[in-house]
Amino acid sequence: MRVAMIGSGYVGLVSGACFSEFGHTVICVDKDVAKIEGLKAGRMPIYEPGLDVLVESSVKAGRLAFTTDLPGAVEKADAVFIAVGTPSRRGDGHADLTYVYAAAEEIARAARPGTVVVTKSTVPVGTGREVERIVARMRPGVAIDVASNPEFLREGSAIEDFRRPDRVVVGAESEHARAVLRDLYRPLFLIETPVLFTSLETAELIKYAANAFLATKVSFINEMADICERTGADVHDVARGIGLDGRIGRKFLHPGPGFGGSCFPKDTRALVAIGKAAGAPSRLVEATVEVNETRKRRMAAKVIEACGGSVKGKTVAVLGLTFKPNTDDMREAASLDIVPALQAAGARIRAFDPEGMKEAKQLLKDVAWCDDTYQAIQGADVALFLTEWNQFRALDLDRVRSALRAPIIVDLRNMYAPADMAARGFDYHSIGRVRVRPK
Ligand SMILES: NC(=O)c1ccc[n+]([C@@H]2O[C@H](COP(=O)([O-])OP(=O)(O)OC[C@H]3O[C@@H](n4cnc5c(N)ncnc54)[C@H](O)[C@@H]3O)[C@@H](O)[C@H]2O)c1
Repeated sequence: MRVAMIGSGYVGLVSGACFSEFGHTVICVDKDVAKIEGLKAGRMPIYEPGLDVLVESSVKAGRLAFTTDLPGAVEKADAVFIAVGTPSRRGDGHADLTYVYAAAEEIARAARPGTVVVTKSTVPVGTGREVERIVARMRPGVAIDVASNPEFLREGSAIEDFRRPDRVVVGAESEHARAVLRDLYRPLFLIETPVLFTSLETAELIKYAANAFLATKVSFINEMADICERTGADVHDVARGIGLDGRIGRKFLHPGPGFGGSCFPKDTRALVAIGKAAGAPSRLVEATVEVNETRKRRMAAKVIEACGGSVKGKTVAVLGLTFKPNTDDMREAASLDIVPALQAAGARIRAFDPEGMKEAKQLLKDVAWCDDTYQAIQGADVALFLTEWNQFRALDLDRVRSALRAPIIVDLRNMYAPADMAARGFDYHSIGRVRVRPK
């Protein structure tokens, strides 16, 4: 099959590279000239483990190429995927569909009869129908089918997620579109991945419902962590105690500074808007959004409290800036709320992130950027863990203690055991865990 992937960001690039690994011939399109030039020269625009190797081998095999020429790519394709961004619209939380509709128009102009246009971007219910209308208006009478194939990959393990997904969801209403999608995902049929064929609307809603459910789990355990802090219970044990119940499941029960990233915040806001517009508001999802926003704002207060009530003139070493480990993605990362709030309270910030510094430098001001963890904590008053990168789990704690001016650690990812940290002489503050005073 010949595939054109419109948009070569996280989703477009990973999906394109993985489809080419499945044996299809893929051309990834982007209107960002620098991104495409970089890709042609073998430079990845994002940090995603394993992506560079996969892209290089697919390009060498002649199954993956990059271009800014959308019509040229589309006119040769059997399937054209729309994988452009759908950010939150300012003000009302609706998904901004400008890029999707602009891409749909460009695709409609160039597509051959028989082409299937597939929306991979996360889009509100009804978007696929609108894409159908755009195509019908621009190419009346030409057989171009529209399908929906929402993507569930996670940044940081995106390639493995694409190769071995829990399920594939396909909203397609013609036999031709279903056959094309079945062909594209043939290697997954062979490993018995469940493939769910639905209507366009259902496929679109499944994606939002999945993200909102997971985000709700996160907000739920964060609220349980707050209750733990006030009652002396331990959220780690609570999460395990409920997560071992098969009906609940252990995943997404890790308390933290609030969810961020390119998907959960914008998708929960969009689902709130979708529900309201449909006359069926979701109070649960509204609460999830609100709990999360309040939480991010409150986290700076937690650091200030750990420092004895003020950070004025104090140095905070921030470790981890990205919204989660194994990515350089800073979109809606908790650090973007917490760092400015600490600065406003008078703190000086030194910071280190293994992969996110380039992005972070564009978004955070007046930060002393450091080359590694130990440089960041040298002489600082407090170390603040914001992202649970593996390298932060295996620090030389004796070195950490002697580098910090006062051995205060605020760990918003619960990477260490409070009793161990206390035994090592740290004033260690975690989320929702029983506090153990230093020896
Ligand atoms: N990032 C994730 O983990 C993830 C996971 C699942 C689903 N999604 C969804 O996938 C979609 C894309 O997300 P992303 O994170 O890959 O976005 P991104 O911002 O990283 O990439 C989007 C790319 O599309 C390009 N683009 C926009 N309009 C174009 C056009 N007309 N022609 C060619 N290129 C165009 C942009 O230049 C950009 O490079 C969003 O709807 C998102 O919600 C993202």
